[in-house]
Amino acid sequence: MCGIVGYVGARDINAVILAGLWKLEYRGYDSSGIATIYDGEIRIKRAIGKLKVLADVLDKEPLKGNIGIGHTRWATHGEPSEENAHPQLDCSDSIAVVHNGIIENYINLKEKLIAEHHIFRSFTDTEVIPHTIEKYYTDSLENAVIKAMNEIEGSYAFAVISTKEPNKIVCCKKNTPLVIGVGEKDNIVASDILAIVGLTRKIIYLEDNEICTLTKDSVKITDRNSNEIKRKTVYLNGKVLEADKGGFSHFMLKEIYEQPKVIHETIEKRLQSGELFKPFPLSIKDSELVKLSRILIQACGTSWHAGHVGKYIIESLCRIHTEVDISSEFRYRNPVTSGETLVIAISQSGETADTLAGIREAKLAFLKVLSIVNVAGSTIARESNDIINIDAGPEIGVASTKAYTGQLFALYLFALYFSRLKWITKDDDLALMLKEVREIPSKMQMILDRASQVEEIARKFHQSSNFIFLGRGINYPSALEGALKLKEVSYIHATGYPAGEMKHGPIALVDKNLPIVCIIPKSNIYEKMFSNIEEVKARGGQIIAVATEGDKKIKELTENIFYIPECSEILSPLLVALPLQLLAYYISTLRGLDVDKPRNLAKSVTVE
Ligand code: AGP
Repeated sequence: MCGIVGYVGARDINAVILAGLWKLEYRGYDSSGIATIYDGEIRIKRAIGKLKVLADVLDKEPLKGNIGIGHTRWATHGEPSEENAHPQLDCSDSIAVVHNGIIENYINLKEKLIAEHHIFRSFTDTEVIPHTIEKYYTDSLENAVIKAMNEIEGSYAFAVISTKEPNKIVCCKKNTPLVIGVGEKDNIVASDILAIVGLTRKIIYLEDNEICTLTKDSVKITDRNSNEIKRKTVYLNGKVLEADKGGFSHFMLKEIYEQPKVIHETIEKRLQSGELFKPFPLSIKDSELVKLSRILIQACGTSWHAGHVGKYIIESLCRIHTEVDISSEFRYRNPVTSGETLVIAISQSGETADTLAGIREAKLAFLKVLSIVNVAGSTIARESNDIINIDAGPEIGVASTKAYTGQLFALYLFALYFSRLKWITKDDDLALMLKEVREIPSKMQMILDRASQVEEIARKFHQSSNFIFLGRGINYPSALEGALKLKEVSYIHATGYPAGEMKHGPIALVDKNLPIVCIIPKSNIYEKMFSNIEEVKARGGQIIAVATEGDKKIKELTENIFYIPECSEILSPLLVALPLQLLAYYISTLRGLDVDKPRNLAKSVTVE
């Protein structure tokens, strides 16, 4: 969840490391720091708060040196403070470490190191790393790092510099991403390619249990027995450079507005011929697909909500039993893995620790894993048997928006292809559905063109302290997603419910102060949903409705209505998502909050 950058070369060390950290700030932003080696000493600056604070410090007093490491933190052990910020140091201030991940046995290690007279100055788990390296540092930094890796348990990626060998950065990883950028006369290491592409597009993805040494002229990778590993560099092309706000006030708003384009581009790429061919280049054979008896979707957060919608889509279009699990539950619940089962993992970042662990569990049970990701070179992409890349471009706002609808769209295309393969959806129906699919981008645009109506609703309700979101059927997960979006960026307590469940408990919460967002597009359960809304209305609840254009009846229940264009029920989650995202966005900004970097969150959750 933290971001690491290390650089060795002749460019301005402050500028290069800060530029990398700005790109990684989405991974954590409660404190940050940078250490260089200059004149035989570690020079260090650390600051609490967003990266801007560190940038201001460095602006006034830049660090010198041709080698350095930097870090932006999302606290796991020890509150955000200067002494808990990284880099962390050994006793003699000659070894500096930046770390992303969790050292699970740090308490034991710390006790032993204290007994051996090491002096600790922070409450972090990370600090055991420089002290353990210090303990084992006899001949080379690489060997000391390997010995430290043998002692520490957990997930980690870390980078180390030492005044004893002032020309090298040594880094390593286990279950947490680390990417090397190979430059001309300089080299860089970072948690994510975003921090590297400004400098070079020649990339090496470090694998678990590998150790990499970077000097300005060389990159050397070894295993934990010090055997050298030859790895080819990959040349990056594509959308990695798009991470700017493009004139919008926030990344979240920009990314909400990018949704028609993302879906349009996918249609252009995947449905060009008018025929539904295998929509993604999957290695899984059609003969294997038709034999499947079960699909098991596992994901976290918003991606889990996409998976939930996926269950409705796949069960309805393909008539195949589909389960959806939260990855952190899936990985420990010893799931039944018999039968012809395909595991689908969904992850925007492709780095989510729990989802990755779920994939590994599935593979141990010899199940095939198809992952839906937004980052092609991510760990999840590399470890899966097959991937569908949603190609939404970098999503920087912590709250997932365009990646969510991109994930939904990937699930639609997959299910439509699969359904056709099984001869469940007939050609004529398929043609009608594809026609409607092609209209989605323009319908999304119609919604965005009326964003000010959502803003008006947000103005009425932004001071409320609780919200309920209700939906039914395929829009029950839309309600969950609407509630998650709101709580993430506005810190308002919000909960999503299947509307039919209200009378079994939650209706007790309803009073005149409670806004209830009701997702009621045209559907075969419209009347049921309508009665559920009447029930909450009768208890004084304030209704905000997301309904279909032309629905006059809903006016009987509320004047706070946002209309989405007409579309078939099965595709409606793609449209419903947008007003809910806008509602969360406007409420957050009206409350004066940092919508792109909400408190306590990070974009890429690489810890358990
Ligand atoms: C989404 O708004 C959240 N920030 C979060 O729930 C996210 O979806 C979750 O952490 C999973 O991330 P992933 O898609 O990168 O795996």
